[in-house]
Amino acid sequence: MDGNGRWAQSRGLPRSSGHKKGVDAVRSAIRTASEWGVKTLTLFSFSSENWKRPKSEVNDLMCLLKSFIRRDLSDLHKEDIKVCVIGARKGIPSDVLPLLQEAENLTCNNSSTRLVIAFNYSGREEIVYAAKELAKCVAKGEISSDEITEHLFSRALYTAEWSDPDLIIRTSGELRLSNFLLWQAAYSEFVFLDCLWPDFDQAQFEHALSEFDSRIRRFGSLVRNTVT
Ligand code: IPE
Ligand code: MG
Repeated sequence: MDGNGRWAQSRGLPRSSGHKKGVDAVRSAIRTASEWGVKTLTLFSFSSENWKRPKSEVNDLMCLLKSFIRRDLSDLHKEDIKVCVIGARKGIPSDVLPLLQEAENLTCNNSSTRLVIAFNYSGREEIVYAAKELAKCVAKGEISSDEITEHLFSRALYTAEWSDPDLIIRTSGELRLSNFLLWQAAYSEFVFLDCLWPDFDQAQFEHALSEFDSRIRRFGSLVRNTVT
């Protein structure tokens, strides 16, 4: 979700207005994903690197996340959406963490779209986390180092429970992955959009989905794979 700041700046507004408007785009994206039967929608809401921003902007982003959960959690629950949070728990402010946990606990048995909030998230950090988890298992003698496979490694990541993303959408014209789901993106399809995140509406999302639909995926083989 990129481009909130530029959306605001181009209108002569403070960056915080762009983030605020970005929350409406979040609501719209969740609705569209749910309508189209998207099994998992992962939103990169705050990276481990975003702490480098000015304190006031970090504070604005924390307040928006808190108010989003307070206002929208019961609706998400009604819509049978399951909220999951990925990222390092350590370092999350003490007034934010309980809300994230509440969202996960309340919706844990829901079974429509899974909404994954990547918060305090870094793809490299996640890979290091998984490596440490496996190293602990080896140290305890639960597995041998030779038993570590791609499958086992995937199971040690934050995303252990669900499959790799089929489609990664980045808004705002930037052509980077910016430390997002590095391991999981090995065979993802990418759609880069010029639109700024606050302008990412249902039509933009559907455009990305139809673009995805036109891609031929072979996963390195010569045989076309289809995803349902
Ligand atoms: C939102 O857009 C990303 C978040 C960290 C929430 P930006 O804040 O990166 O917007 P730009 O890139 O400055 O336009
Ligand atoms: Mg940005």
